[in-house]
Amino acid sequence: MEKLIQMIDIRKEYKMGDETVYANDGVTLDIYKGELVAIVGKSGSGKSTLMNIIGALDVPTSGKYFLGGKDVGKLSDNQLADIRNEMIGFVFQQYNLLPRMNILENVELPLLYAHVSSREREKRAMEALEKVGLSEKAKQMPNQLSGGQQQRVSIARALAANPSLILADEPTGALDSKTSRQVLDFFKKIHEEGNTVIMITHDNAIALEAKRVIRIADGKINFDGSSEEYAAIV
Ligand SMILES: Nc1ncnc2c1ncn2[C@@H]1O[C@H](COP(=O)(O)OP(=O)(O)OP(=O)(O)O)[C@@H](O)[C@H]1O
Ligand SMILES: [Mg+2]
Repeated sequence: MEKLIQMIDIRKEYKMGDETVYANDGVTLDIYKGELVAIVGKSGSGKSTLMNIIGALDVPTSGKYFLGGKDVGKLSDNQLADIRNEMIGFVFQQYNLLPRMNILENVELPLLYAHVSSREREKRAMEALEKVGLSEKAKQMPNQLSGGQQQRVSIARALAANPSLILADEPTGALDSKTSRQVLDFFKKIHEEGNTVIMITHDNAIALEAKRVIRIADGKINFDGSSEEYAAIV
């Protein structure tokens, strides 16, 4: 299997006056192409910090991070932006759809950043919307959709540029359990189609549906194994 992510002793420190917060405190992990990974841990344990580093949205204080074989620490801001646009699809808890753009335009956005032509953008965005079962909503505005539908649009947006990696930070955090289930099923489907998916969740029931679970406590990994092994300890 091809290694997509390699992290070696990643640390992220925040200095707050006299105090230092060790948000990530020596994280070492490998993630292979095609994996479905859940990252779990209490509030404040360092999950989003880690996700932001994985997504090249933030840089670690120390440690080595290779994404698709590239040493991310050696890239310029412009190169980091290119990596994000070309390789990563992001899904957030609060959907982050732009309210004045219709659904189709929202899904086209990452393709715009990737300099895809207008006709090709529309075609690929419609395909992504079809995958999440929302092509008939293409011309509607985000506020005309339910929370679950908006999250499915944000998944379509993450998929549109055909990224190597989908990162989702609490994608079901704002949804009721039935809608969470539907969103989770989309992630599983995307995974089965060959995508690499990493999702953060507070919800053990959701984590147990991933193949692999990584648990963070105080900025450190304290469990990394199959969901079957994880089930035995929670
Ligand atoms: N920009 C920042 N400045 C200072 N401290 C920060 C910053 N971002 C995060 N932290 C601290 O780092 C630690 C880890 O935060 P992080 O957001 O990664 O936690 P989390 O596991 O995602 O929590 P939650 O489940 O509540 O989202 C926390 O103690 C937090 O206060
Ligand atoms: Mg968080």
